[in-house]
This record gives sequence, C-alpha cells and structure tokens, in this order.
Amino acid sequence: MSIHHRSRAALSLLAVALFVLPAARLAAQTAAAFPSTWRYTGRARVAEGAHGMVTSGSAVASVVGRDILKAGGNAVDAAVAVGFALAVTHAEAGNIAGGGYMMIRMQDGKAYALDYRETAPAKATRDMFLDDKGQPTDKSVSGHLASGVPGAVAGLLAAHQRFGKLSRAAVMNPAIQLARDGFVVDSFHYRSLASVQQRLKLYSPAAAAQYSVNGQVPLPGSLFKQPDLARTLAAIRDQGRDGFYKGWVARAIVAEMQRGGGIISAADLAGYQPKWREPLRITYRGYTIFSMSPSSSGGATLGLILNIMEGFGPLPPFGSTALLHRESEAMRRAFTDRNRFLGDPDFETLTMLPSMLSKDYAAKARADINLAHATPTPPFDPSIKDGPNTTHYSVVDARGDAVSTTTTLNNSYGSAVLVTGAGFLLNDEMDDFAAAPGKPNMYGLVQGEINAIKPGKRMLSAMTPSIVLNPRGELTMVVGTPGGPTIITQVYHVISNVIDHGMSLPDAVSAPRQHHQALPDEINLNTGGFRQAVVDSLKAMGHTVTFKGGGDVQAIIRIAKGWQGVSDPRGGGAAAGY
Ligand code: DON
Repeated sequence: MSIHHRSRAALSLLAVALFVLPAARLAAQTAAAFPSTWRYTGRARVAEGAHGMVTSGSAVASVVGRDILKAGGNAVDAAVAVGFALAVTHAEAGNIAGGGYMMIRMQDGKAYALDYRETAPAKATRDMFLDDKGQPTDKSVSGHLASGVPGAVAGLLAAHQRFGKLSRAAVMNPAIQLARDGFVVDSFHYRSLASVQQRLKLYSPAAAAQYSVNGQVPLPGSLFKQPDLARTLAAIRDQGRDGFYKGWVARAIVAEMQRGGGIISAADLAGYQPKWREPLRITYRGYTIFSMSPSSSGGATLGLILNIMEGFGPLPPFGSTALLHRESEAMRRAFTDRNRFLGDPDFETLTMLPSMLSKDYAAKARADINLAHATPTPPFDPSIKDGPNTTHYSVVDARGDAVSTTTTLNNSYGSAVLVTGAGFLLNDEMDDFAAAPGKPNMYGLVQGEINAIKPGKRMLSAMTPSIVLNPRGELTMVVGTPGGPTIITQVYHVISNVIDHGMSLPDAVSAPRQHHQALPDEINLNTGGFRQAVVDSLKAMGHTVTFKGGGDVQAIIRIAKGWQGVSDPRGGGAAAGY
C-alpha cells in the first residue's frame, strides 16, 4: 500500500470514528430510550424501491399511486391519483369535498405550495356558531352548517393541470374503478366504519346508507362498492372542475344544503379558487425544509419550533426530561404566536409572520426559556392581531420530483353529512375558525380575531406537508401527518429524530411523541412512551402532563438503494414502491 493509500485509509477510519460511530451510538441510545411499555417499537410498515415511492393512509391507494409511477406518471400524477383514491378507500379523511395543501418540489429544484383549503360560504357570519348566550355550539362540527366550500377537487386538478404528464382520465380511472367495482375492506377500515355508524345515523341517513351494506358495517374481507361516488368521480373526469363545481353534482350539494339548513350556494361553488403560495423555507442545522405557508399555520409554527431548538446546540438524549422540557417550552411559544398572529393572508395582515421565521426572534424566545421550570402560558387575549380526521400522502418519482400532501374533512368523516345521490361526505372545516375568539375549538385551540369567520375567508389550518433537503441540497425526506394541532409537533419530531437523534426513518416515525400547544397549558405525551421518572421530573418542573396518542405519519427518505417509504404503525396505511 502506498503512503498515499495508507493515509487515505487512515482518513477514512477517522471519518468512520467521527461520523459513523457516533451515528451508530446515537441509534443504539435511541432504541434504549424507548421504554418497554412503548407498543410501536419496530412496528412501522416499510417498503423500499429503487425508483419511486408512495406512502399513504390506505394500502390500496398507495398501490394506485405506485402503478401510476410505473406507467410513466410523475410524482404529481401519482399524488393526484392517490388523492382521488383515498376519497374512495379512506372515507374517514380522504375526500373530494374537503381541502388540503400540496407541497411540490420538482427535480430541477423549484418548490411550489398549493393551498386548496376550504373557504367560508358567502352567507357565513362571525357569530354563526354562537347560541343566544354567546356560547359556541357543536354546529361547527357536525351537520350542514359545519362545511366550508370544498377545495379538494379544484386543488387536485390545478396541480395536475400544471405539472401532470398523464391524462386526467389516467389519474382518475383507478379511483372510479375502486368506487364502482369495489375494494376489499381491511380490519382498520372496518373498525373505522364501525366507530362512526351512530354519528352518521344522527346527521345523515344518506351517509349511514352509503357506509353500510343492508344496515350492517361491511366486514373485513368483503367487497365494498360506492356507485354514487363512482358517478361523481366520472363527472369530474369527464368535465374537469365543472363536473364538481357546476352541473348535477353542484346541484346535489346545494339541494343537500337546503335539506339540512346549510348555506353553501351555487355561486360559492362556482367561485371557489385554489391558490398557489410561496412555500416557506426553513433551515435547520444545514438542512432545508420547504413547508406550507398560510392559510396553514404549519410551516411557520414548525419553523419557529425548529429555530428555537437549533440554538440549543446538540440536543439532550431522546426521551430525557431535559429534551422534553426544552421541546415543550419551544412548542408553547410557537403555538402562542400561532394562535394570535396567523390567519388567512388574503383577509388579514400577518405582520408577525417574518418574525416567526427569523433566527433572531427564535433566539429571543429561547433566551426566555427557564431551563429548570415551566413558564406558564400567558392568558389569551383574542383581540390581539398585531405584534380527527386528516390524511397525508408522500410521493417521490424516479426523476426525483416530490409531493407532500395533507388533506382533510377535519373531523373523522367530516360533518357526517353525505351529499344525497352523489356519494361523498362534506367537511366540517368551519370549526377550524375561531367560532368564538378566545374560546377553545374541537382541538382545544384557543385562537383570536385574526382567525374569526368572514365570508370567503380560509380557516387557519395546522397541516404541515413538508419536504426536506440535506445540507448538499438534495431531496432527502418527504413527511406529513394528520392530527389537528399535533400535526406540527409530529412533523417536528420526525425531522428532529432523524437529524438530531440519528434514528432510522422507521424508528423516527414509530418513536413516542410529545405535544404542547400553549393552551391548554399541558404537555401531552404518547401513552406508554416515556419513563415514569421522566414524567415525575416534568411535573416537578411545573408542567401538567396528560397522555394520549395518535397521528398517522406517511414519510419517505432517501436510502442507498433508492427510497424507503414508512407508514405510521399508529394508523392503517402502507407504503408501496418499485
Ligand atoms: O386543518 C387543520 O388543522 C385540521 N382541520 C386538521 C384536522 C386533523 O388533522 C384531524 N385529524 N386527525
């Protein structure tokens, strides 16, 4: 071996010692950090592929997307096909009458953010969900008044029109076929349908009829067909957005509104427009994250959390009190700002948005954190302006185009109202507005005037579809999840688990998560995910600790042989690659 070679070998050994060993040690520490009570260790559903990858909350829908990629479609074609397929196979959240956000990064490096969030109908008023005593009612959650003007069809078609390579028929036919000829119900889908039957019966006989067969929940293994939905999807395939926003489907929506005292009009439908926004660009320890700009709060809130955490330098070990405290305090501060300062940029001036994304502002927030004790969330002043169920899918194609999409009806099965004769559920997105500024919504979020109801306005969202580039600027990860406000903190955890804690993506997705949203002033921990001694220490530092769980992360990461897709073990989805 020449000297030259010997010194090269020594150098590479040094590189192993400096980089690889710490990463391996980190990963080992991490696995040890999950307590034995943590039920998801090693249970993420994983697929690998050399060319392309799709992961979604429904295995059937992921296969639809994978086949579109194999047929020569790009990531946007596949995402649009998955979006329509989820409306058929994942009715609790997949939809054509909800809304969402799509982050796109094409292989040439350009990133795009599509906002197809629902809007308040023209007849909506600020206090429409308050009773005589000024108290919020549940009409923003269930029933005909709960729906915003649907954005999903216009959004998916706008993305397809701008970037798709295949025809509209090619990307919609798989969904139409699944609705018309049926798909096989799995146990996850069965449990989901069984859990909602009572609610559907209460609000919509048409919904109860659609999601049962002869009055019974369709059993796992049985074929489930939705002929009305197939007709609606065919109208969209044949006439484009007019097939939904005009014509017989639009008339069916308006008739449904009249049947149940809703206010969405033909003019609201015909006038709905998705919007292309400037994606938010966050940097974290040399990585770049493209995430969603308002009308979602996702990117800005994620950015503030990451910017606060970045300044702590190397983070304390996963699962430790020190880490959970720092994260909770960062999340508390980010959500305090989110709840006061963010709303629809087309209606409100978001003067604090640049601050929420600046490193200096984050440094001030970090300096305010007491490392030994919780800082109580300040009381909420709703007048300050200045100063479940959702679903996510991720797609990467063989050229390296990437799509990260989160879409929702809001609550599981939306407003529980189905458009009679047209076979699809309506959203209950109006609850994401501050129906009563200063009072909690369905997710306990306390929000202000900046997110009050106005006709035509978009309700603030927490959806955080994100795309991560490594320090060399290469596409590294695509990530997102459902979960109301916990969406933001879940996406934070997956990103930080990979970058800070050296976890593999399956570990990063399966790992127990924590959430803080300022109000209620409590840390929420995944049940069984953290050691009792850590919980006791957090309480001693002045935190209130509660336990829950949830989420359904769908993420893709670059690996040596191509792409690894990971579907959260908390949900019923799967990844499919080739
Ligand atoms: O846009 C939002 O923030 C909510 N409508 C998301 C709802 C949600 O994620 C429910 N899923 N578990």
